[in-house]
Amino acid sequence: MADPSVLIVGAGPSGLVLALVLLENGVSVRIIDKEPAHRPGTRGAGVQPRTLELYDILDVLPGIQEVGEPMRPLIARYERGEIEPTAFVTVAEIVQPTPDTPHPNTYFVRQDGHEAALRSYLEKLGCSVELGSELRSLEQSPDHVVAVIEKTDSDGNKTEETTKFDWLVGTDGAHSVVRKLIGVNYLGETKPTYIALGDVVVEAGVDPALWHLWEQPSTFMMLRASGVEDRTMTFFYSGRPEHLAKQNITREEFVEKFYEITGRHDVKFGATPWLSNYRANIRMADNLQVGRVFLAGDAAHCHSPTGGQGLNSGVQDAVNLGWKLALVQKGLASQSILATYTKERLRIIAHMLKFTTELYKASLDRIPGGQKTEDASWDRSGDVQMLGVNYSGSAIILQDAEAVARIQTPYSRRPIESGPVSVQAAFRAPDAPGLVLTGSGDVKTLFSIFSVAAHTVLIFGSEAGCGDRVAEIVEKLPQRVARAVRILPQGETACSSSSCETVFEDRAGHAYTGYGVPFDKLTIVVVRPDGVVGAVVSGAEGVERYFTNIAQV
Ligand SMILES: Cc1cc2nc3c(=O)[nH]c(=O)nc-3n(C[C@H](O)[C@H](O)[C@H](O)COP(=O)(O)OP(=O)(O)OC[C@H]3O[C@@H](n4cnc5c(N)ncnc54)[C@H](O)[C@@H]3O)c2cc1C
Ligand SMILES: *[C@@H]1O[C@H](CO)[C@@H](O)[C@H](O)[C@H]1NC(C)=O
Ligand SMILES: *[C@@H]1O[C@H](CO)[C@@H](O)[C@H](O)[C@H]1NC(C)=O
Ligand SMILES: *[C@@H]1O[C@H](CO)[C@@H](O)[C@H](O)[C@H]1NC(C)=O
Repeated sequence: MADPSVLIVGAGPSGLVLALVLLENGVSVRIIDKEPAHRPGTRGAGVQPRTLELYDILDVLPGIQEVGEPMRPLIARYERGEIEPTAFVTVAEIVQPTPDTPHPNTYFVRQDGHEAALRSYLEKLGCSVELGSELRSLEQSPDHVVAVIEKTDSDGNKTEETTKFDWLVGTDGAHSVVRKLIGVNYLGETKPTYIALGDVVVEAGVDPALWHLWEQPSTFMMLRASGVEDRTMTFFYSGRPEHLAKQNITREEFVEKFYEITGRHDVKFGATPWLSNYRANIRMADNLQVGRVFLAGDAAHCHSPTGGQGLNSGVQDAVNLGWKLALVQKGLASQSILATYTKERLRIIAHMLKFTTELYKASLDRIPGGQKTEDASWDRSGDVQMLGVNYSGSAIILQDAEAVARIQTPYSRRPIESGPVSVQAAFRAPDAPGLVLTGSGDVKTLFSIFSVAAHTVLIFGSEAGCGDRVAEIVEKLPQRVARAVRILPQGETACSSSSCETVFEDRAGHAYTGYGVPFDKLTIVVVRPDGVVGAVVSGAEGVERYFTNIAQV
């Protein structure tokens, strides 16, 4: 067997998702992690609607939802010593699913369970994480990367391995060795305040399925449901005395502080399976690629946990990079497309750092002895859901004026924070259920039709033969770059054309309504493997132009 093409350094969520995307694309990978065992802890538990959509497209959503639950919309706030909450603070409004947005609410999934679920999907593809394997150094030349990996076995014996790869991706977290080895700057600031946090078993006194909060100007204590049906909760404690702040909290210190701040001696605690210490670091890499080496996830950006964006941004990095790297590795695109990874993602990350820092200042940040002036902000709807993430201005996005003029604002669509209400190039491609495959009668959703391993070219508009040229162009593209999918209006089932491989009837009408496209005119929506609309065009020339930028023909 040939050596794997890509070395993924770090098996957190970013590395695991990247491995899945590359394997689905038929690109071989190795994924290593320096830890001798998988890391415990609830950590990044908020899985945002946009991540749920990407997991739907990646076909891993059931396994993730199984280990979590929808986020609780309320936090109970207490005065010191009171058993009954004095207020309920809204974290997010519960939104009803719509045909175009089937997963509108944040999910709560503890990170260790989330990673285990991703690993089990990876194992189905024949890949497992190599534990106890630490990247020590790397050297690159124009056509490969040589990595030195130190392996430690269960007895602590160390061996060193030197292997050649085509590409290397550092998903090795905020302290990324890869980032240091390629000399990329990590710009930003480190906040002076430390937050103690961990998982604790709550035996009595508060409902473990809810979030509970005790706030004072200079201290903050929260018990947060962990998204699993047991009595484990995550605590956050800010405002620790300066001389203790730098060390990990102990179970005894936590319990003592909890009683001091809350006055709730009726709350009884069991074991603390995970204890940690956290200091907000708000930083981003100034470049995500040097030659054949890339950065993704926390290795590329880190920020306060408020808003729950870290893990989710890492997943988006991974899907954005994954399909581009796969095309290049398979010789189907030129290397220049890889530069769009940095271009597209850095702008999103900069925006995200800005608003998560504002959320952090308004909620978790407590300085011992300090005063808070702003009102605490707990609203976690809007931007944090990431449904408005867009790659406007990217060189590989295309939209022609004629197609745009054809698109109507659909009536079914609720406005999504800063995003548009109708389909638009550079934004997410919405879902639509109830599509009936002509011939077989199978019923599909658009998300189940989209694939991380190919572009999906949606051809809308009643027959008139006008979509045939488009389907021909798509078929002429090198293998598996794109698939043409014709969507016929409700009531039409006959496709006279021989050139379209897959034809669906929009029986429930959701695709035409949700995308706002006319029945009688040709409109083509090219959906990228990362679920982003790459192009909205009115004819074959537009499709040709789009793929000239993407694939090497
Ligand atoms: C308290 C807390 C709450 C959070 N809440 C949220 C939330 O609600 N939503 C959200 O999206 N995010 C949240 N986050 C952030 C989230 O946990 C991180 O953003 C996420 O883990 C980043 O994933 P990653 O895969 O990029 O990196 P990591 O998860 O950090 O994984 C990096 C991996 O690389 C390995 N590694 C490091 N160096 C090497 C090396 N040299 N060789 C081999 N392996 C190496 C490490 O062992 C590690 O397993 C939270 C974080 C904390 C601490
Ligand atoms: C570690 O090295 C010792 C001495 O060479 C050897 O006996 C032992 O089997 C090794 N452990 C493992 C897990 O391979
Ligand atoms: C704190 O705990 C973490 C594990 O949660 C551990 O990795 C780290 O080394 C500890 N730090 C100190 C200073 O003990
Ligand atoms: C696109 O995203 C940026 C943030 O990266 C945001 O500022 C902008 O408003 C978005 N564009 C639209 C049209 O919503």
